[in-house]
Amino acid sequence: MRSAVIAGAGVHLPPKLVTNEDLCARLDTSDEWIRSRTGMSVRHVVEPGGATSDLAVEAGRRALESAGGGADLVVLATTTPDHQVPPTAPDITHRLGLGTIPSFDLSAACAGFLYGLSTVAALIATGTADRVLLIGADAFTTMVDPDDRGTVVLFGDAAGALLLRAGEADEPGALGKVVLGSDGSLAGLIQVPAGGSRSRSAGPVTKLADPAEAYFKMNGRETFRHAVQRMSQASRAAVAAAGWSLDDVDRLCAHQANARILSAVADELGLFEDRQLSNIAEVGNTAAASLPTLLAMSAADGTLKPGHRVLLTAFGGGLSWGAATLTWPDVEVG
Ligand code: UT7
Repeated sequence: MRSAVIAGAGVHLPPKLVTNEDLCARLDTSDEWIRSRTGMSVRHVVEPGGATSDLAVEAGRRALESAGGGADLVVLATTTPDHQVPPTAPDITHRLGLGTIPSFDLSAACAGFLYGLSTVAALIATGTADRVLLIGADAFTTMVDPDDRGTVVLFGDAAGALLLRAGEADEPGALGKVVLGSDGSLAGLIQVPAGGSRSRSAGPVTKLADPAEAYFKMNGRETFRHAVQRMSQASRAAVAAAGWSLDDVDRLCAHQANARILSAVADELGLFEDRQLSNIAEVGNTAAASLPTLLAMSAADGTLKPGHRVLLTAFGGGLSWGAATLTWPDVEVG
């Protein structure tokens, strides 16, 4: 059976920065609280008028260059599409000069990139596609309440992309089985209450009883608990599916939601510091962009090397989660 093999990678962070000090200047928070409770120092944010597609086009262009060009399908994992209609992927495809190839958006919150990998692997295995540009991009800061200290400190904007081609399971860059899960009984833990069909059917969005309902809400403490449990379980399942043991894992690439969550998952799995990839201090939680951004930045700075066996895991709204394995190939990151 054909496997999905990484042929290129790219990343883009918007240049505008928001530091902890910037947040402290206008909110009741402190650098000490943010660093100690989240591990974050700086986030990159889109300029006013900027959108997810702007980030995705740049990361996608870099991944295509890294892979030597060419794709016959584009998949965008995002929580923050430019518009509710149309989907954002066709616009990205057009702006990348890829013509009229198929493209679609995929929504699984912070686990979106893993759901994307699983989808791409299946489309490649069945011969539906040969070279797929998978982009994880989010302008998540556009969705958080600028006055809510509980959420605004957590998020940044970014895009990361991989070009996946058809290949063999034993090649460097080959993706292993992707393990996925979801639990809609806990949908209320992470939510933007207004803006979808549920609130639109109740009346015009301009007449929302509480405009704050259009912003992101999260029960942080409960989410934390489920994140650790689900990422740990999925990681064990993905490692077993690959025929690896946890000792075989060279690098843990986990969704950068909170440094304390990362430590708890790593401790649970026995993957101690030298095996953890992290960019949370510099980018914060970038939602669907988190995993590809971390892979590309780590490969660029040399903490992720060709031949490393990587365990990926993510968790987010839905609830939805997953894990996967891959061997990092010898690619020049764009
Ligand atoms: O990407 C999707 C998945 N997301 C996650 O997995 C995130 C999971 N959750 C978390 O990362 C953490 O729960 C948070 C970072 C969101 C919050 O950390 P926490 O240690 O769970 O804090 P908390 O929500 O229990 O709040 C503790 C205190 C509260 O004050 P009181 O009620 O104890 O007086 C909050 O009001 O910290 C307060 N607080 C803050 N204080 C200063 C909340 N945000 C801030 C802030 N600055 N920015």
